[in-house]
Amino acid sequence: MADQNLMEKIISLTKRRGFVFPGSEIYGGLAGTYDYGPMGVILKENVERLWLSMFRDNRDDMFGVDAAILMNPKIWEASGHVAGFSDPLIECEKCKRRFRADHLESLGKCPECEGKLGDARQFNMMFKTHAGAAEDDSATVYLRPETAGGIFTNYKNVVDSVHPKLPFGIAQIGKAFRNEIAPRDFIFRLRELSQMEVEYFVKPDDWEKAFEEWRKMMHLFAGAVGIPENMVHELEVPDTDRAHYSKRTIDFEFDYPFGRKELWGLAYRTNFDLSAHANASNTELAYLDEETKEKFTPHVIEPSLGVDRTILAILSSAYREDELAGETRTYLALSPKIAPMKAMVSPLLRNKPELVEKAREVRAELKKVHPAIAWDDNGNIGKRYRRQDEIGTPFCITIDFDTLGEKPELKDTVTLRHRDTGEQERLTVSQVVERLQTALE
Ligand code: GAP
Repeated sequence: MADQNLMEKIISLTKRRGFVFPGSEIYGGLAGTYDYGPMGVILKENVERLWLSMFRDNRDDMFGVDAAILMNPKIWEASGHVAGFSDPLIECEKCKRRFRADHLESLGKCPECEGKLGDARQFNMMFKTHAGAAEDDSATVYLRPETAGGIFTNYKNVVDSVHPKLPFGIAQIGKAFRNEIAPRDFIFRLRELSQMEVEYFVKPDDWEKAFEEWRKMMHLFAGAVGIPENMVHELEVPDTDRAHYSKRTIDFEFDYPFGRKELWGLAYRTNFDLSAHANASNTELAYLDEETKEKFTPHVIEPSLGVDRTILAILSSAYREDELAGETRTYLALSPKIAPMKAMVSPLLRNKPELVEKAREVRAELKKVHPAIAWDDNGNIGKRYRRQDEIGTPFCITIDFDTLGEKPELKDTVTLRHRDTGEQERLTVSQVVERLQTALE
């Protein structure tokens, strides 16, 4: 069930708390672009770091690249994107507005002015620009529509430099650009997006095994970032809907507030890309098996994960409202691993130097466990807790006069407040350090 109200609340919270801002906002915005703010940028880095550790760094068969966004346009001719990376477009003959034909379904008339619609035509979604001073066709370059292009074109460089044995993969995180006809649903359908992609090279007969392994890995990653398993659904994409390079695709769909939609994709790209680039560039991109002396073009399994759609899935599944101390409050039940701030430290009163000094000491101790420990001494303590709840900070630690020894039996203890329940405990600083360590393990 679509819940537009929930979507509006999430958009409002993410702006209020510095997660996501509309792109170019002071100039009235630019459709399909968003900027990550102070909290959003840390959340995004946490997601990307976790992906890098699971998909690249904790494995011996994975390598990284960071390819240029601007690439020789022949790459996108060979990959089939110049000819086929398009969506059906319809223009209204009366108001001249343009729509994605498949979004109009069977409406039959313009949804804006009820005017007559023209015939559908294919609209290529690659952004074009010019490299250098000339602005003619010979200088045309494209902003990459998928990061995969920079992986395939570096396949030979990786093989020649680190000599990996099959199966092995190349991972990359980076920006991709799509001139979407109808950007929509906040950071779901963007014109400038980030992708986390793997191209995993295998012997032709081994593709099914690798497909299953990456399929499991994607579910593990969903769990690791705190996306509930019951909100993720696999969809076997039928022949007619698959991208031109794929022989099998599973879409991982997520129950977004606006309906069940594609979160990530897993594709079997066969040897389509390496063969196409080998032909077009006249470069040998085959793999020589040292043992069997057999030479062949590897086949490819591609887990492709959009960073922005991952963040939207995390935010929308973590959004909560409840009643606490007689008030309605909002909080983000983020997994501590992903939360931008792991804890917040606060002196009960900001104008008492002895409280501030002790609170700074406690914060320094916690920073030894993790650097993302917030400091908040603004407004009353209730307001500070509400703010951190909305950021998704799992723990708040308050230093009061008892910490300083006003009640001798409580000296050097602090209040630890738990985000999800609002419960508070009196603990020593070293117990709080342990709690934090355990939560981040
Ligand atoms: N290299 C394969 C590829 O790009 P895709 O299904 O077109 O396949 C992969 O895109 C992932 O990129 C999607 O599953 C989604 O997470 C993300 N993505 C695609 N288009 C997007 C858009 N316009 N805005 C945000 N994310 C997008």
